[in-house]
Amino acid sequence: MQRPYVIDKLISAKAIAARIEELSREIRQEFEGTDKLVVVGLLRGSFIFIADLVRELEMPVEVDFLEASSYGDGMESSREVRILKDLRGAIEGRDVLVVEDIVDTGFTLTHVVNLLASRNPARMKSIALLDKPTRREVSIKADWTGFEIPDKFVVGYGIDYAQRNRNLAYIGTVRFTDD
Ligand code: IMP
Ligand code: MG
Repeated sequence: MQRPYVIDKLISAKAIAARIEELSREIRQEFEGTDKLVVVGLLRGSFIFIADLVRELEMPVEVDFLEASSYGDGMESSREVRILKDLRGAIEGRDVLVVEDIVDTGFTLTHVVNLLASRNPARMKSIALLDKPTRREVSIKADWTGFEIPDKFVVGYGIDYAQRNRNLAYIGTVRFTDD
């Protein structure tokens, strides 16, 4: 049974857009002049972020996706990362930008970065829209972070709770109303 909850707004759609504009400028600088950039979105939480990010980048990119499992439908990381859907394309010799929604314990990004590094890309960087540094169990930090947030469960802008709320334009925190 789903517990009743409300969503409190944490980051507005406008603030997200402004931050993506800033991040895009830095990423464009990093990958200036390359025509072999593959932007890899981690499904499903990053699908809206990657869509906005690649449009703001305004440079030649290819887009690919990878799906890793960690949370199931709950609120706790399983700490065991499995690849449910691999990339379609090879990344050997390519420039790669991994796009994650949230770095929480750090297990997912660590696993994905190690896996992709083993395929010998020319260069690999990572970006996470959100970071919960106080939750970290594996030492890893994305090369770019949109926002550091407190240890609260968030939804919206692609991010779900039990598959719902991905379609909110903003990011909010889940607050249960039965406790
Ligand atoms: P990690 O492996 O613990 O770093 O977990 C990262 C993944 O857990 C993210 O890609 C999200 O899919 C999911 N996750 C972490 N925190 C939240 C949250 O607050 N809301 C929804 N999903 C989350
Ligand atoms: Mg995820």
